[in-house]
Amino acid sequence: MKIGICNDHAGVEYKNGLVKHLQGKGIEVVNFGTDTPDSMDYADVAHPLAEAVVAGRVDLGIALCGTGNGMALCLNHHSGIRAGLAWSEEVGRLVKAHNNANVLVMPARFIPYEEAEKIVDKWLSEPFEGGRHQRRIDKIEG
Ligand code: RB5
Repeated sequence: MKIGICNDHAGVEYKNGLVKHLQGKGIEVVNFGTDTPDSMDYADVAHPLAEAVVAGRVDLGIALCGTGNGMALCLNHHSGIRAGLAWSEEVGRLVKAHNNANVLVMPARFIPYEEAEKIVDKWLSEPFEGGRHQRRIDKIEG
């Protein structure tokens, strides 16, 4: 399992924590994000992560910015990307079970770090339910 992770300046600390957390589970992590607190534009890291997921260079992606919205807006421009915003463990479960999100997006400025770890763990372990949810996913790209 190889996961790509990206973040803007609002997500540096959460990214660093999650990289360690994922590596502790034996998951390989590719860092697409910024590593400094200097202000930068989320699009500059979101698009490379989306391209890596679509090309299969990484299996899944995680994206962090202040609200999560900037990352989600950029990522979902890419055909084949389902970037889902999650702010609680239960939403993390549903974003896999119902939406089969291949990129998990979290709002670093609006959730405690411990919640981010729980969301990631739930999103990774929860199976996609398929069935009516697959039918709905099939309609996303029109
Ligand atoms: C950065 O200040 C902030 O705008 C960004 O992290 C994100 O919340 C945008 O959607």
